[in-house]
Amino acid sequence: MQLRKALLGLVALASVVSSAAVIPRDGGGGKLPRPVSPKKPRREPEDTKYFRENTDLTGHYDERFFSEIVDYDARLDTLKHMVRAWLLTTAKEGIETWIAHGTLLGWWWNGQILPWDWDLDVQMSADTLTMIGNEYNMTRHKYVSEDGLVEREYLLDVNPWIWQRVRGDGMNVIDARWVDVRNGLYIDITGIAETQPDSMPDILNCKNYHRYHVNDIWPLRDTTFEGVPAKIPYSFDEILITEYRAKALVVTEYEGHRWNTKSKTWDLANDVPAGAEAEQLKNHVREPERYYSVESGGFFYNVFRLLHWW
Ligand SMILES: *[C@@H]1O[C@H](CO)[C@@H](O)[C@H](O)[C@H]1NC(C)=O
Repeated sequence: MQLRKALLGLVALASVVSSAAVIPRDGGGGKLPRPVSPKKPRREPEDTKYFRENTDLTGHYDERFFSEIVDYDARLDTLKHMVRAWLLTTAKEGIETWIAHGTLLGWWWNGQILPWDWDLDVQMSADTLTMIGNEYNMTRHKYVSEDGLVEREYLLDVNPWIWQRVRGDGMNVIDARWVDVRNGLYIDITGIAETQPDSMPDILNCKNYHRYHVNDIWPLRDTTFEGVPAKIPYSFDEILITEYRAKALVVTEYEGHRWNTKSKTWDLANDVPAGAEAEQLKNHVREPERYYSVESGGFFYNVFRLLHWW
């Protein structure tokens, strides 16, 4: 992983802060991680990084709870229940949070996660983050699905580097995680804070350089995501276009999936390139199918669709 390489370079700089880097190994109930690339030392003594992912190419699992890579269906099932649990738990506890990044893009299409995603993203204010750091760190939350058939447990783990609101060495841009303790898949939780109130008042950013105006976020809009109540930023459309370009709102083939205009879902499609193959094709001219054939309902349908969400 790139990060790991960068990390090795940073080790020399980081000795002062090593004491904060100890990760909890007593996850309780979690299986011991299986070392996937055993040549690399698992931890450098001066390493500042708090959250640990499994060390193979996927890197989408919390190391403490990782035992094996889950298949497509298990991943989707994991992510869907995980985000429902997060949204329901935070609503119940009065923790203000909203969906972000690829998760927000999934919402834009059909109110569901994008099926090629490996992790999900939510945000909160830095104040809320501090609060959960104080009151909810390392808490475990039980979840039962609406139909009573699925029972899960999630760990809310808050990075001790949350007080540092700038990127720093880049090792701790994720502020907290909501982890499925069965397999280590997680939601990334990041806080946004006003870091330069004098020169840039009302401008909030996360540690990974995403920047927002206060009025782009609040007042949050109420919606649903994966069938449960959720919140999204006020200017969700501008935020999505800034982050992903307008193309992400029209292209109907992506990462081995095609948008199904009838069912309004992203369906697996073998003929749509994914992974490395898709990367290569980016350099060639290949016009994917576009959204223009999709909304047969016309102008009023679209207005209804927006009102319905607002
Ligand atoms: C959360 O708890 C873990 C384990 O005790 C600890 O290492 C970490 O520093 C804590 N985070 C915060 C924000 O206090």
